[in-house]
Amino acid sequence: MPKPLHLIVACAENRVIGRAGQLPWRIAEDTAHFHRATAGQSVVLGRVCYQTWPHARADGRQPVVITRNPALAQTGVRVALSLPEALTIADSLPGEIMICGGERIYAEALAYHRPLRLSLTLIHADVEGDTFFPEWRHLPWHELTRCESRDAHFRYTFFELEKK
Ligand SMILES: NC(=O)c1ccc[n+]([C@@H]2O[C@H](COP(=O)([O-])OP(=O)(O)OC[C@H]3O[C@@H](n4cnc5c(N)ncnc54)[C@H](OP(=O)(O)O)[C@@H]3O)[C@@H](O)[C@H]2O)c1
Repeated sequence: MPKPLHLIVACAENRVIGRAGQLPWRIAEDTAHFHRATAGQSVVLGRVCYQTWPHARADGRQPVVITRNPALAQTGVRVALSLPEALTIADSLPGEIMICGGERIYAEALAYHRPLRLSLTLIHADVEGDTFFPEWRHLPWHELTRCESRDAHFRYTFFELEKK
């Protein structure tokens, strides 16, 4: 039985998730949420996400990096050429499969015929950026939880959604 795919993302109302290779915001509560949710799990992510996340290997995470560059493989870090190859690797590892982006990887994962879980931090603003989360609102999600919060700059809501 394949494991569910667990996508985790922070996304603005206009679906922006990134700008110039970085997050377009710094929301400490969301960063802590992301680190907590991914600790001890397999994290499937694109090369840019991996190279800009210094904690990818910390806290028991097992990165599976999607890239054409095999030189990125090292102790505790696996590489794959595609999402299907990354999922074959992640299925063989203990823990959940957390899909951490970027844009193409989220789009391919959302289209998979596999149970999906989505940990979504929806930032209630339109934000300038160049990288987007695919449209998800039309899919038949079941809402498990929601929790509203804010910091000095943004209002945001943590959603836990699932789709069988
Ligand atoms: N807000 C959030 O929650 C969130 C989450 C994730 C990312 N982001 C933001 O998004 C941006 C990074 O995402 P990105 O989409 O630009 O880059 P990315 O997916 O992290 O990396 C792109 C690279 O990964 C490989 N790749 C990605 N998808 C692939 C696929 N389907 N098949 C084969 N190879 C694939 C390729 O590597 P090679 O060129 O090495 O072959 C590609 O050049 C940053 O701004 C980051 O901060 C935000």
